[in-house]
Amino acid sequence: RPRVFSGIQPTADSFHLGNYLGALRQWVAMQDTHDAFYCVVDLHAITIEHDPAVLRRRTKVAIAQLLAMGVDPDRATLFVQSHVPEHAELAWVLGCLTGFGEAGRMTQFKDKSSKQGTGGTSVGLFTYPILQAADILLYTPDPGAEGRAIRVPVGEDQRQHLELTRTLAQRFNHRFGETFVPPEAHIPPGAAKITDLQEPDAKMSKSASSPQGIIDVLEEPGPMRKKIMRAVTDTGTEVVYDEEKKAGVTNLLRIFSALDGTSVPDLERRYEGSGYGQFKKDLAQVVVDTFTPIRERTLKLLDDEEQLDRVLAQGAERASGVAARTMEIVRERVGFVGRGR
Ligand code: TYM
Repeated sequence: RPRVFSGIQPTADSFHLGNYLGALRQWVAMQDTHDAFYCVVDLHAITIEHDPAVLRRRTKVAIAQLLAMGVDPDRATLFVQSHVPEHAELAWVLGCLTGFGEAGRMTQFKDKSSKQGTGGTSVGLFTYPILQAADILLYTPDPGAEGRAIRVPVGEDQRQHLELTRTLAQRFNHRFGETFVPPEAHIPPGAAKITDLQEPDAKMSKSASSPQGIIDVLEEPGPMRKKIMRAVTDTGTEVVYDEEKKAGVTNLLRIFSALDGTSVPDLERRYEGSGYGQFKKDLAQVVVDTFTPIRERTLKLLDDEEQLDRVLAQGAERASGVAARTMEIVRERVGFVGRGR
């Protein structure tokens, strides 16, 4: 089975609709057809100022949400990044292969660093994509494995980081011998960039969106409905897909279609002549129906510390096994002396 690896930051009290449609839904689907590794990336979460108690809580909520969405710890390896120190170790090695200018061209870094307040931008934020490359490449399939491939389900905003990962894999192989498989981005057509409900030209984002612009997975049905009913559309009345002229309606159509499986043209036909009201009302119902069971399961899981601990221990153990093998090869290739016996 081909491998799949993906990660998500525990930087909010809940994941949002963009995370779900752009990535997490694919995580759940791909665990059946792939040898899956899914990681809550707490090292990435400290690249911006954070509160330790909040990070600890959010990391647990993240794991609980992933389980509630259907990530199955017996089929997929679900783990926390800081439990596997090889991530930081490989990031160092890859950092030594990355050009300063190359890292400086990462658009997410440019966006995020321009928004950092008085604390300023950390070196960690600058090297963030290198750590991401290490996350993925650590889980390169074994040299002997057949059909060696590693797929990475992510939203559109991660495309450039995946390109850098491929470049670093090839560069390492070229310098030190065939070691890594360049990963393939797996970006879902139609849901790769869910936009802000209030600013339909901007990405729905934990850090940049206003509360009104973002739908949280763990949100109560009341506010969820309200936000969809108040989503920005346009002065027209037609429910039609038009990215340029009707960005708001287009975003809602994408969300509707992705969640309920009806194609966009079928939705356009269904709401022909009925205005935005009924369309939004039905969409709100679809969103509530999708997330209510996930919210309920998450809350239950959070009450069962023992089960969460077992999942974390099992995930850390399995991920460590793979990461340790990869790092052993890397150390040898790079020229580090073995420890002796
Ligand atoms: P993060 O935590 O910001 O987001 C998690 C996933 O959600 C996707 N996403 C979206 N998709 C569609 N529409 C949106 N509005 C939207 N907002 C977010 C992201 O593309 C992502 O797939 N750097 C990564 C975390 C990471 C990672 C990795 C991912 C660290 N190491 C290794 C893959 C492989 C990030 O910031 O995700």
